[in-house]
Amino acid sequence: MKAIVVTDPAAGTAGMTLTERPGPDTARLAGLDGANYGDVVVEVHASGFTGDELEWPSTWVDRLGRDRTPSIPGHEVAGVVTSLSYGTAGLSIGQRVFGLTDWTRDGTLAEYVVVEARNLAPLPGDIDFTVGASVAMTGLTAWQGLFEHGHLSAGQSVLVHGAAGAVGSMAAQLAREAGAYVIGTGRAAHHQSALDFGAHEFVDLDSDTLEDVGGVDFVFDVFGGDIGARSARLVRGGGTFVTVTGPPEVRPANGLTVDFVVVSDRAQLGEIARRVREGRLRTHIGQVANLDDAVAAFNPARKVGGKTVIRMR
Ligand SMILES: NC(=O)c1ccc[n+]([C@@H]2O[C@H](COP(=O)([O-])OP(=O)(O)OC[C@H]3O[C@@H](n4cnc5c(N)ncnc54)[C@H](OP(=O)(O)O)[C@@H]3O)[C@@H](O)[C@H]2O)c1
Repeated sequence: MKAIVVTDPAAGTAGMTLTERPGPDTARLAGLDGANYGDVVVEVHASGFTGDELEWPSTWVDRLGRDRTPSIPGHEVAGVVTSLSYGTAGLSIGQRVFGLTDWTRDGTLAEYVVVEARNLAPLPGDIDFTVGASVAMTGLTAWQGLFEHGHLSAGQSVLVHGAAGAVGSMAAQLAREAGAYVIGTGRAAHHQSALDFGAHEFVDLDSDTLEDVGGVDFVFDVFGGDIGARSARLVRGGGTFVTVTGPPEVRPANGLTVDFVVVSDRAQLGEIARRVREGRLRTHIGQVANLDDAVAAFNPARKVGGKTVIRMR
């Protein structure tokens, strides 16, 4: 099969190459030796990749820390199940699915991927594969940060950083739907887009003063660093600071701090798909490219706003 591999994670996209790799061993998958218990093979139709993956050790080592380069990156997928092993209840061959794959295994920038069935949810027939791949990581990250970890409630004020970005645009929409007052942030050019994604007001981080927001009940941080630290200080007593950028240097003096890494969740993917179908959740897709052009599309120098999705077929 055709696949993108990472040979040198430190080289950024220059360390990624399109190559030929053996496809999944479907005979072994269906065998009784238990090696692939719980796995399915997905024929990938659309794949997503987050640039920061190249900085995460899981991109080049397995769970025991052993080097697994050349490894296949990309962990967001939408496609069709082509093989099942044991323990894959809930899925069937020919089923359309979407989800997030295990960080420490070969990923989705390939024509086929082996995935644990529990990491996949059915993708309704009226949701395009491109959309499905684009909402897996972004939707789950927003959902888990706001609801599972942050326990957002109606009436709270939420500062959503990067509200026109891939994750932030989902967080802004979900928070608003949940009855929160949403203050989106970003660059000046993101103002209208952030409002369109559900923000009630917008802070231009290049020219406005973040502290003018005053106190908020909840921060959803996708930046970390200085902006993350300043935001943590805005959280009111008893409020919540959620970040997806690693352990924060500053925490609210009197509140809940959550730093988490997204995981796949079939029930939550179902909630996200339902909202997409009903027009209540809109994904921010920046560009769509094919596998031959994937490495160039991921080059940060060519970055466009929103999610980059790779179509395999
Ligand atoms: N922990 C987890 O489980 C998890 C899961 C998903 C994502 N993440 C992380 O979340 C972060 C965001 O991901 P994403 O996919 O949403 O990225 P993204 O699509 O690039 O969104 C970030 C948004 O914020 C804007 N922005 C960046 N720096 C800014 C600044 N200094 N001032 C104002 N606006 C700024 C970006 O604008 P420009 O495009 O103009 O820079 C973009 O609109 C990444 O670091 C990613 O690794 C973590």
